[in-house]
Amino acid sequence: MLAELWKRLRTDSSRAARRLGLAREHFAIAERHARVRAAWAAHLEASKQAILEGAQRCPRHDRALVIGAGDCHDVPVAELAERFPQVTLADVVLSATAKDWANKLPGRVCTAVWDATGALTRLAEVRDAISADDAPKLFADADPGPPPGGEPDFLVSANCLSQLGLVPGHSLPAAEDDKALPERCAKAAARRHLGWLAARTGQRVLLVDAVRYDIAPEGKVLRTETLYTRYGLRAPDRTWRWDLAPIPEWSSDFHRVHDVGVWFDPPATPAG
Ligand SMILES: C[S@@+](CC[C@H](N)C(=O)[O-])C[C@H]1O[C@@H](n2cnc3c(N)ncnc32)[C@H](O)[C@@H]1O
Repeated sequence: MLAELWKRLRTDSSRAARRLGLAREHFAIAERHARVRAAWAAHLEASKQAILEGAQRCPRHDRALVIGAGDCHDVPVAELAERFPQVTLADVVLSATAKDWANKLPGRVCTAVWDATGALTRLAEVRDAISADDAPKLFADADPGPPPGGEPDFLVSANCLSQLGLVPGHSLPAAEDDKALPERCAKAAARRHLGWLAARTGQRVLLVDAVRYDIAPEGKVLRTETLYTRYGLRAPDRTWRWDLAPIPEWSSDFHRVHDVGVWFDPPATPAG
């Protein structure tokens, strides 16, 4: 309990990230991980393996950048630091765990509070007044700027694509009367992120929630939703199952399960 409180106190985030619900979401993910650690283990291991496979394809090994590093559950930080003299762990909410890695491997691992959308400062300023039409446009037109730490030889977008616009979208008063607004923000922010990734020169690995299932206790699939096509992504190079929210985490009636996809270089180019 005290350890958790200490971790919270050592977490850094911008005012915009707090105002737009991203800090709260970060702690919610950490709490869920603590509750369902065993259910997530295979997914986290598969993510780490995919990242290391991407690193192996990399012709240059000076700089690595991880976007959406979070608590680094799915990031093989030590292994990346063995391969790259500079590893930057970037997130809009900088966890105590990421800071611990930087302290443990000084000079090799560093951290950055960084907004991958480039939209959050402005969105937080206009949060109460922005219309349901303008919010997705703000994500679509925003410029995240250059990568923190300089142009990387290896870049990982770590299971954050679907969250970039969704979480802030839910925090907008305009979403109260327009239930589809968070999803439109998610789509706009994800496509902008893919465009930004496509402009990078290094090797890239993209990890994304690809398909969502609701599965009854006896195993019957109640609902399937393909997510990656919304962002204009081609089919993933590989997928694996993530038991994201076993009963009763999300619902007392069904397990929420994802197929997580990995896209190796070149990252999918958003179409349409
Ligand atoms: C599902 S978590 C990914 C898991 C994380 N790699 C881990 O192992 O804990 C998504 C991460 O994306 C981050 N994120 C959300 N929006 C972001 C943004 N605009 N810029 C950078 N990171 C963002 C969240 O703070 C969160 O840590």
